[in-house]
Amino acid sequence: MHAFSSLLLLGTFVFQSVLGRPDGTRVRREGEILKRSVDSFVATESPIALTKLLCNIGASGCAASGAASGVVVASPSKSNPDYWYTWTRDSALVFKSIVDTFTNSYDANLQSEIQNYIAAQAKLQGVSNPSGSLSDGAGLGEPKFNVDLSQFTGAWGRPQRDGPALRAIALISYANWLISNGYTSTASDIVWPIIKNDLTYVAQYWNQTGFDLWEEVQGSSFFTVAAQHRSLIEGSTLAKALGTSCSACDNVAPQVLCFLQRFWSSSSGYVVANINAGGRSGKDANTILGSIHNFDPSAGCDANTFQPCSDRALANHKVVTDSFRSIYTVNSGIAQGVAVAVGRYPEDSYYNGNPWYLNTLAAAEQLYDALYVWKQQGSITVTSTSLAFFKDLVPSVTAGTYALSSSTYTSIYNAVQTYADGYMAVVEKYTPSGGALAEQFDRSSGSPLSAADLTWSYAAFLTAAQRRSGIVPPSWVVSSASSVPGSCYATSIIGSYSTATSTSFPASQTPKGGVTSGTATATATGTATTGTGTKTSTTATSCATATSVAVTFNERKTTTFGQTVKIVGNIAALGNWNTANAVALSATGYTSSNPVWSGTVSLPAGQAIQYKYIVVNTDGSVTWEADPNHSYTVPATCATTATKSDTWQ
Ligand code: NOJ
Ligand code: NOJ
Repeated sequence: MHAFSSLLLLGTFVFQSVLGRPDGTRVRREGEILKRSVDSFVATESPIALTKLLCNIGASGCAASGAASGVVVASPSKSNPDYWYTWTRDSALVFKSIVDTFTNSYDANLQSEIQNYIAAQAKLQGVSNPSGSLSDGAGLGEPKFNVDLSQFTGAWGRPQRDGPALRAIALISYANWLISNGYTSTASDIVWPIIKNDLTYVAQYWNQTGFDLWEEVQGSSFFTVAAQHRSLIEGSTLAKALGTSCSACDNVAPQVLCFLQRFWSSSSGYVVANINAGGRSGKDANTILGSIHNFDPSAGCDANTFQPCSDRALANHKVVTDSFRSIYTVNSGIAQGVAVAVGRYPEDSYYNGNPWYLNTLAAAEQLYDALYVWKQQGSITVTSTSLAFFKDLVPSVTAGTYALSSSTYTSIYNAVQTYADGYMAVVEKYTPSGGALAEQFDRSSGSPLSAADLTWSYAAFLTAAQRRSGIVPPSWVVSSASSVPGSCYATSIIGSYSTATSTSFPASQTPKGGVTSGTATATATGTATTGTGTKTSTTATSCATATSVAVTFNERKTTTFGQTVKIVGNIAALGNWNTANAVALSATGYTSSNPVWSGTVSLPAGQAIQYKYIVVNTDGSVTWEADPNHSYTVPATCATTATKSDTWQ
């Protein structure tokens, strides 16, 4: 879609031709060309994606007129296909991404959207529908509703049991923000009653079959069970923080984790997407989505929770992506180890079976998640399970653990980064000028297909782009969350449900300790704040001092399409003042009222740094901020994350 496309195509071609005969220098150079092209795509597409995503949310979204307040329309397409409905799954995934963006950088407009969404979900929980009603919880499994919040009575694959779990996860993320900022009673009075219904549903119905996320097969689905497990773990943690408990969560979560292990086939070496269903290979992007949506940046490469860098999830990434190599014409001629277009599952026949934007983006996101964790832990482990994945990228690699200082670490890290960027480049190649993301693109021609402006596609782009910039979501894994019981039981706890009635949020719930520069103050008063705000994440009373801190830099700078904001400074991690090595920030949280560029860099605790932001134009020219340099000292506390917010000077 950009001037860089032809360069990119050339880059991809040359890159492929060298893979057969790996030559470190040339591979690295092609990786750098690819990286610059993806930098440019991400910078251009990010504000478009956020704008178009918000367009699909009622009542005032530009493409959602007629939808009730807080309702996420799956797509504005009203025929061929008709997606003018609100799905619980799509809406929850979209709002989880919005809450994470909001948590990273306060934005009053996003906060209103979040509040409207929560109020709409409270109403929807009480709408009786063909799956049932709230009285015994069964109605919570209904997959979709009309956009005016009334029931949809047509035939459909129902129930779908991932919806309540995903909605609980999205709402919990906002409840956690409220608690961290001193609004615990809002979390208790307004958000918790809605979450509690969903958690009760999960604890009661998780062991019954239902339709998978693609609404086609009835059985037990990895994506669904993974979300159910996470919801119960986070539900339990939240309940404690609110001074109550969720004993059903505590009792059932270990059993859900136990069941989740059954999806891993050690004999086949991949995650089988659906069990108790039959008929397919089980190779399915369902499993990549399950892994990225349960990503915890502090959980290491835990295999029991299928973390993105776990050997199971990486082995699975290869098997799932390889399953699309030979079946799509758009993938023909692409060498093993180079990114391809990714669909739902190889047997798919919906619209003849095509690649999906959101699945191709998920393949990239899993790899960015892995890169983040490897960098944090300072090593990469290759096991016999993940060896085939790594060998596609670095043919000489053998099983072992490679420390940050080793050349094998560097080879793997760079190769995975290039591989991940390759998936973004596939999306770039099939994104029309203007940046619209449909649901699918044609397996032969690459033209956009099926629902136009799919809200979920935009959310998938934004989360992949954030991970690429090192912006990661909050943690959720506690120690019990990855400890699998010796034997599994189908424990089900019957609970009680009640309509959440209190849904009006108090005004002015701005961040505790004031708004850091460049956030709500500017939105509320219309004047940009200056000065530097520093926010350090909450520190527990007894903990080890961090050695390395993931510092998120937020810079407010109004830019035009094609421009990228980068940070450059006096240490190697910030490019040693060389603009060619500056760290690109991401515009995934950029709105016209809050034009924030963000990026996360790992820095040694206690390190004093000097830096400036630069704007890089499409022709490569650089504009520097005015003097003086910014100065900052990385906090030396037990917190492993910190935020530094600045405004262009
Ligand atoms: C509509 C569903 O949304 C889609 O996922 C499915 O593939 C088709 N129906 C065909 O069953
Ligand atoms: C079809 C997809 O298969 C399903 O996952 C999604 O929820 C709906 N379309 C709406 O986007």
